[in-house]
Amino acid sequence: MSKIAVIGSNMVDLITYIDRMPAQGETLEAPGFALGCGGKGANQAVAAAKLGGDVLMLSKVGDDMFADNTLANFQRFGIDTRYVQRVPGVSSGVAPIFVQADSHNSILIVKGANAHLLPADIDAAAADLRDCSLIVLQLEINLATVYYAIEFGRQHGIPVLLNPAPALSGLSAEHLAQLDFLVPNESELALITGQNVDSPDSARTAARTLVASGIRHVIVTLGQEGALYVGEEGEFKINGLQVAARDTTGAGDAFIGCFIQHWTHDGDIRRAMEQAVAYSACSVTALGTQTSYPDRKAFARFQQQR
Ligand code: RIB
Repeated sequence: MSKIAVIGSNMVDLITYIDRMPAQGETLEAPGFALGCGGKGANQAVAAAKLGGDVLMLSKVGDDMFADNTLANFQRFGIDTRYVQRVPGVSSGVAPIFVQADSHNSILIVKGANAHLLPADIDAAAADLRDCSLIVLQLEINLATVYYAIEFGRQHGIPVLLNPAPALSGLSAEHLAQLDFLVPNESELALITGQNVDSPDSARTAARTLVASGIRHVIVTLGQEGALYVGEEGEFKINGLQVAARDTTGAGDAFIGCFIQHWTHDGDIRRAMEQAVAYSACSVTALGTQTSYPDRKAFARFQQQR
């Protein structure tokens, strides 16, 4: 089986379910709270592993009570944690998350130990990374590490996928152009291209400029509208599924985890996107981030019921 390398973050998700955000100086009672494992890198790794993927994780945990739980969580799903290391004297990454009754969320992140994942950590894992069939990156670690990983992939002929989240302006065009896959949502695409993106048509136009600059495949996630592909294989849109959403936190990560698992299996981009759209729709019907990701059996049941 081909191995997937996720080089990225892990966070402790502090999820508060709220009726509304409090105003400045106001104290409000909220109906619920859950503590969970999160972080965009970890979420994508766990989604792929829950679907049967063989995943190697490069990440950093802190010097606190959360670290053991994060490591145990990765291991529970069979993820290779030889390169998930503790950073002395530093906190784990944490993410206070506020989920509104309409299922939408607001997230704060404190990088903590994630900021200590460095280019030298990629060198230390080089022998294992060279055996991987895909490197997957996000933007909750240092940009220098992200760029180094892109260069590493290019030098060793390993395809690289970047999920440019959370949105960040001023990304290096030179590094973006080396990507095999860029998977932004609409606001990330708008920030990267400087274009207005508020519909599938405007997303297509913006994605074309990135493909013209050298990126092989641009996949834009469109929330409940589905996802759009622009790249070497032409242009197409996968329609979204209508579901009763309860919590959209981590839906983009669910999409990517499912996509990477399928694409590394057979290289079929359209089929991987169809599965990923369905998987992320399924994830929003349950509460939490990783807790909302179905395993293979539960996902098959979801698909049969539709
Ligand atoms: O994409 C969702 C994730 O963003 C959460 O799990 C949170 O940890 C932040 O990283």
